[in-house]
Amino acid sequence: MARMTLGNLYGDHLREVMSRADRALAACGYDGLIIGSGSPRYFYLDDSTYPFRPNPRYRAWLPDASPDCFVVYRPGERPRLVFHQPDDYWYLPPALPQGYWVGSFELVVVRSPLELRQHMGTGGRWAVLAEPGPVTEGLGDHDPATLAGMLDYVRAIKTPYELECMALATTAGVRAHRAAEAGFRAGASEYEIHLAYCRAAGAREEELPYNNIIAFDTHAAVLHYQVLDRQRPAGVKSFLIDAGAQHAGYACDITRTYAAAPGAFQDLITALDAAQQALADRVRPGVDYREIHLEAHRAVASILVSQGLVSGSAEAAFETGLTSVFFPHGIGHLLGLMVHDAAGFMAGPGGGVLPKPEGHPYLRLTRTLEPGFAVTIEPGIYFIESLLAQARAEPRGRAIDWPRVEALKPWGGIRIEDNVVAQAGSPRNLTREGFAAAA
Ligand code: GLY
Ligand code: MN
Ligand code: MN
Repeated sequence: MARMTLGNLYGDHLREVMSRADRALAACGYDGLIIGSGSPRYFYLDDSTYPFRPNPRYRAWLPDASPDCFVVYRPGERPRLVFHQPDDYWYLPPALPQGYWVGSFELVVVRSPLELRQHMGTGGRWAVLAEPGPVTEGLGDHDPATLAGMLDYVRAIKTPYELECMALATTAGVRAHRAAEAGFRAGASEYEIHLAYCRAAGAREEELPYNNIIAFDTHAAVLHYQVLDRQRPAGVKSFLIDAGAQHAGYACDITRTYAAAPGAFQDLITALDAAQQALADRVRPGVDYREIHLEAHRAVASILVSQGLVSGSAEAAFETGLTSVFFPHGIGHLLGLMVHDAAGFMAGPGGGVLPKPEGHPYLRLTRTLEPGFAVTIEPGIYFIESLLAQARAEPRGRAIDWPRVEALKPWGGIRIEDNVVAQAGSPRNLTREGFAAAA
C-alpha cells in the first residue's frame, strides 16, 4: 500500500485532536483551551538559553516549534494560532509558518506574546496548558489536572499522521544508525561516531530527541552513558548505540549492539535479538504491558541459563529476581512527542494509577495496549559491576557462573530496542521496517 503524505493525513489528525479536546473540555466544564508552545529558559546567571523544546501538549496540535506561540481553541470554531514573530535583529525571528497544516488554523501574527490577550475571544472559562507567566496570568486555570490528564491519556493512541511522522523519524534514525555502525567498523571513536550520526540524521545535536548513547565495551554497562570519548582505545570489543531522530516533534528511539568479532558475546546478542523479536510480536491490543515486561524477564532467564551464565532452572532465575541483576530496567515505554511519552501509568482518562509489578521499579508503562499505542521493546543483558557485587553477596548469587561473567564483563552489555505499534493482527515494527527498507 502506498504511504500517505503527511498533508493527506494531517486534516484527520487535527480533527481527532479537536474532538479529544471537545470531550475533555465538556467533561471538565471549560469553554475553551489555550495552549502555549513555551518560552526559552536561560542558564543560571547567563544570557544564553537551553535548547528550546516546545510543550508537547502544543505540538500535538501542529508541527510548529516556535517559542511563545499559542493555540486558542473553542469547540465548534476553527483553532487560532497566535504566532509570535518578534521584531528582532539579535536573533532571526521565526518565518511565517508554511506547509500542509497552516490552512487549518486562523493565523494571527503578533510582535509580543502579551498580544495573545487580545486574541482569545471574550468571556467563558478557559483552561490554559502552558507554564505560568505574565502572558497567561489570570486568563484561566493553568494545567488543570483532570483535563490535562484526559488529553495526555488519549495521546497514547497515535493517529495515522503521528505514525507517519514516527516512520519518517525512523527513516532518519536508521540512516544514522547505519552510518554509526560503519564508523564503528572503520575504527572511529565514540565522538566521531556521534558526529557521523548527526550528519547522517541531518540533525543538530539539540534536534535529537535525547542525548545519543554511544558506548564502547564497559561503557555499555552504563545504561544512559553520556560521555563521548574523543580517543578510541585499542581493541574495542563491542559497540552499543541508543540514538533517535525526530520528525515534526515525533521521536524514534532505537538501540543496536554490535560485537567486533564472533564469539560468546555475539552469541548472546543473537539470542537476545530473537527474544526481542518474540516480545515485539506481543505488542497487540488487549495485552497488559506489564505482562510483556515479565515475559522479558523469563526470556532473559532462559538466555542466561542457555548461555551458561546462570546454573539451575530459568524458572528459578526468574523467581529469585536474578534476572534483574542483568536486566535492571523496564522493557520499554510509550513513545511519541516525548521519548518517554505521557500517561504511562494512568488507569483511565479520569486518573488513577496502575502499579508496577513488585520488584520492578523502573518500568515506565503499566497500561493495557490499545490499537495505535506506540511503544518501545528494549530488553537488555548487562554486566554492571555494582549490581554484580550485590548479587555476589547474596544467596541467589550462587547460581551465577562467576568466571563466565568475569570473562564477558569487558564487553559491557547489550540492549536491542525497536519501536512497535499495536494494531489489529500482527504489530507494526517501525524499526525493523526501517532497517529492511534501508537494506
Ligand atoms: N533512549 C532512552 C530509552 O531507551 O528509554
Ligand atoms: Mn527507549
Ligand atoms: Mn533508547
